[in-house]
Amino acid sequence: MSSEKLEQAINYENENAVEKTKKPGFHVAARTGWMNDPNGFSFYDGKYHLFYQYHPYETQWGPMHWAHVISDDCIHWSNMPTVLAPDKEYDSFGCFSGSAVTLADGRHLLMYTGVAKHQTADGRELELQNQCLAVGDGVTYEKYEQNPVIEGKDLPAWCSKVDFRDPKIGVYEDGTYYCVVGNRPADGSGQILLFESQNGFQWNYKNVLIRNQNRFGKMWECPDFFELDGKWILLTSPQDMLAEAGKYSSGNGTLCLVGNYNRENGTFSEEKDQPIDFGIDFYAPQTVLTPDGRRVMIAWMQNWDTCSYRIANTEWFGQMTLPRELSVKNGKLIQTPIREIESIRTNKIVYENVCCKGDMQYEGIQGRSIDMELSVSTQTSTGTYLDIHVAEDSKNYTLVRIDLLRNEVEVNREYAGVVRSVVNQRKCKIDPMQKQIKMRMIMDRYSVELFMNDGEKTMTTTIYTDEKADQISFHTDGEVEMSIIKYDLEIQK
Ligand code: FRU
Repeated sequence: MSSEKLEQAINYENENAVEKTKKPGFHVAARTGWMNDPNGFSFYDGKYHLFYQYHPYETQWGPMHWAHVISDDCIHWSNMPTVLAPDKEYDSFGCFSGSAVTLADGRHLLMYTGVAKHQTADGRELELQNQCLAVGDGVTYEKYEQNPVIEGKDLPAWCSKVDFRDPKIGVYEDGTYYCVVGNRPADGSGQILLFESQNGFQWNYKNVLIRNQNRFGKMWECPDFFELDGKWILLTSPQDMLAEAGKYSSGNGTLCLVGNYNRENGTFSEEKDQPIDFGIDFYAPQTVLTPDGRRVMIAWMQNWDTCSYRIANTEWFGQMTLPRELSVKNGKLIQTPIREIESIRTNKIVYENVCCKGDMQYEGIQGRSIDMELSVSTQTSTGTYLDIHVAEDSKNYTLVRIDLLRNEVEVNREYAGVVRSVVNQRKCKIDPMQKQIKMRMIMDRYSVELFMNDGEKTMTTTIYTDEKADQISFHTDGEVEMSIIKYDLEIQK
């Protein structure tokens, strides 16, 4: 049964639709108001479904709802009515992040964190986070009468009941469901708890899948856990990261652990760790398994620490990344743009083995909605860097620098029209492959996503420079030999 709060949200979003021309062209963005984490990314009843953390009434975080979009190809998305509102006692403070799976009987199951406030005996207010369900048909969803189904009070005593959130469900080959949830043990660090279920409704605690032990930040938010190319992968978003030179940045970060899983004991042993993305704006990724067996990831294209960089006086805030195909190569996570992006490419332009000297522009190499691949020769170039200014006009630009001395890529939006003092620059090391550095750049109206060396490293950054700033220029201190392949990406009207 629909509640007043849910109807209010649906009416509000219908009446306050933001014009498409003011929003990203092919990245999912808040329908109106505020968006954070992707939730319930799934393939159900012939379509991709994506839900997200949503506060329709303001462009700031508030009581969390779940908004809903669907797609045939993860590129063209359509809005659906909001599915969850914080309308029960157990989720009155918000329907926090979670996931979706198809039940054996064909229904769509959502699992989310219901957050309620609770008064302690000494008068303090504490949050309680419990896992809850809603069942639906791809359009409307009913909260389960027996919610919550996994409660903090049933956890071992040393597990936090306050930080217990973001359930991500997976399915083993034999049909058993498993679920990973972020939690905090007594040392204040993070840990991932593992649960199992035969039917999706009754859940049993299995084990601590892995403990952070204060190595990578503190609390681990939004875990995802799946098998890929013979390894098991844990993706999570740690809070309070400490910077580590050449690897991790401080603040809200992302972590990928590649390792092995012992299902019998419910333990994960990691072999390698890496940040998922080296740019400024990337958090809380979640994956789906496509019908043709690809593991595809989408993330909130934002960082909690930089939310004050935004378009002034606009009615929406928050975007998702482009969905990315994942694979494992030499024990490392590789990400490439979802191949369906190719369906919106037009106007191919190629420059083969051109020599860039000083300051240059190339005819046709411009635009704010593009897919462009550069291959830069590390052998024959005499320049020590190649600077690419994108989203450029007479006042503004975003710098993408390939530093050929240090084998480093830098993204810097200091001069992109930012009026707040936030993180505007990030760097990342890259190994020159076969005497060249390759960089694929996907730009939409308000973002730049970089995929280096066929997806070995990625850097994701939002830019809110006026859309008319669409020039691209190249600069070097010597000579740089490179090839460019560039397409326009057709923006949805
Ligand atoms: C991560 C997060 C989640 C939580 C949600 C609340 O960005 O803090 O842990 O479920 O956002 O909106």
